[in-house]
Formats: sequence, structure tokens, C-alpha cells
Amino acid sequence: MTTATAQAHPNIAFIKYWGNRDAGLRLPVNGSISMNLDGLFTKTTVSFQPSLAVDELIINGREVTGKGLERVSFILDLVRQKSGVKAQAEVISENNFPTGAGVASSAAAFAALALAATKAAGLNWTEAQVSRLARLGSGSASRSIPAGFVEWKMGSGDEDSYAVSIAPPEYWALADCVVLVSSSHKGTGSTEGHALASTSPFQVVRVADSTRRLDICRQAILERDFDLLGAIIQQDSDMMHAVMITSQPGLFYWEPATLGVMTAVRQWQSGGVQVAYTIDAGPNVHVICPQAISKSIAENLRSLPGVNSVLITGVGGAAHLIP
Ligand code: DP6
Repeated sequence: MTTATAQAHPNIAFIKYWGNRDAGLRLPVNGSISMNLDGLFTKTTVSFQPSLAVDELIINGREVTGKGLERVSFILDLVRQKSGVKAQAEVISENNFPTGAGVASSAAAFAALALAATKAAGLNWTEAQVSRLARLGSGSASRSIPAGFVEWKMGSGDEDSYAVSIAPPEYWALADCVVLVSSSHKGTGSTEGHALASTSPFQVVRVADSTRRLDICRQAILERDFDLLGAIIQQDSDMMHAVMITSQPGLFYWEPATLGVMTAVRQWQSGGVQVAYTIDAGPNVHVICPQAISKSIAENLRSLPGVNSVLITGVGGAAHLIP
């Protein structure tokens, strides 16, 4: 086979990946845990074609060159090395969510690319092997390979740093209400951000405490304990942002509307509502809650100042091939 199509969901980190011990290999300084986002996906077709002089990348109908293409070719080169395929590839990728809508697209993109490229090159790799390859494109993409609730083990090196499923999607009916707030400026991207993490004096403390947070988060998922989960993911997100804000230069991703959503969520929590926020490297807020109350939570979120729109997603499955 020289052509294959794969689909992968983005994911939201409950325990965050922030900082690498090896930036080239994307070996993180701590493990992370996430949930795949159902309903949102990237679909990517890779075809190796002997007639091509260079790799070609088309995202949502537009040709991409420069840095974006280089990052994709880096993954294709690894696949060519392992498979013996010599041809250059055409990569056609579509997201069903707007790029830059505040849902990290690199996780779904590199997960779909890793799966489609290995299959197109005739490699029948295990989930762990594909997750490792996806990690080399974007760290969080390793977590978009397995299904449902996923843990990326930091590992001792390249070989054992990959993601595994903790529980399948149907294990726990959680929702992520993705709150999109207006943003005029484009903040610093994750790759540059990871490189700054160690300049914050708080990073050492965040990393030293990560095993505790991972253990609590894993336990909360396995026991379907929302109160435990909500408290730990919110603390983890706040700790990552404390590191970001105190890096040199400091990365401040929040906008007034971000803080408005955080405050509202905290108020609902003190009124006994099962809801918690987590925020990645941008101003949008992911509000996690049981699916049963996600519609009313989303309604309430829409009425807050500065909120542009709210997407409701459930728990997504594994990256998979499309016939
Ligand atoms: C804040 O995986 O986007 O979303 O490996 O450089 O592509 P690269 O970084 P990326 O970092 C994700 C950072 C985060 C937290 C997380 O998803 O764990």
C-alpha cells in the first residue's frame, strides 16, 4: 500500500506537558494525562508518489511550505528510514474545527499523520510505536493515538516514552465545553513555550510534584470521582500557568474573558456544581463537567462577557484508519 488515510481527535490535557528534558526527541520533564475530544478530528491522507520531487502538504485546501512542511517531512523521513520507501509524499489534511480556534490542532494533526504515513509505507506498527512517532512531531500528539482517557509516560528515553489508554471513552461520560474567547494577538506557541519552562523558578516545584498529581488524576478517572478530578486538573492548570507567567520572558495567555470564565466556574463549584476548568497555551478555557449537565453549563458559559462561542465535546476514541 502506498496510500492511507487516518483520523485522530485532539485532546485536552488534565495533567499538563510543559517542558522537555530533550527538546529534539520531545522527551517531557513529566508524564501527562488527557482526554480525547469526540466530534473534533483531523483527517489526513498520505500517499508516497515516485513522481514527486519534494514532499507536499495541503491543510484545509491550502498548500503549506516552510516550517510547517519541514516538521511534517521530519516525520516522513523517519518513516522512509524505517520502511525503505524512497518516494516523496503528498499529505492532504483537513480539520473539522477551525485552525486557531483555540483547540490545539497539532495533536490531532501529528497523530493522524503518524498513523497514515506508517500504514502508507507498509509498516504495521503497534499503538505504542505509532504513539512514539507522533510524539516526535508534537508531544501532545502521542496522547491522541490511544482511546479515551490516556496517559503519556515520560519514560526513560525515546523507546519507552509513549501514551497508553487508562480507560475507554464509554468508561465515563464527561464533557469538555470549549469556551472560545476573543483574542486579537497570537501568543507564543507551545514549542517555544516548552523551551522557556525551566526559566521559571516554579518549574522545579511543578515537576517535583507531578507524580502526586498524576496518581490522583489516574485514580479519579478509574473511580469516576468528579470532585477529585476537578480539584486536581484545576490545580495542575494553575500550576502550569504560574510557571508560564513567571518564565523569562513571561508568557501570559489569559485575557479578561478567560478570568471571567475561571471566576464563574469557581462560583458554580462552591455552589456544589460538578465543573472544573483547565487552560492550555492560549486564552480559551476548557470547562470539564459530566455530560448530563453539559448543555446547561454551556448555556451559562455563553452568557458570560467576552465569550464568543462554546463547543461541547465528549470523550473520543483512538486514532484509526479510514478504509
Ligand atoms: C499546554 O504538544 O503542543 O497544551 O511538542 O512543541 O508540539 P510541541 O508542544 P505541544 O504542547 C502542549 C502544551 C499544552 C499542555 C498539554 O497538552 O499537555
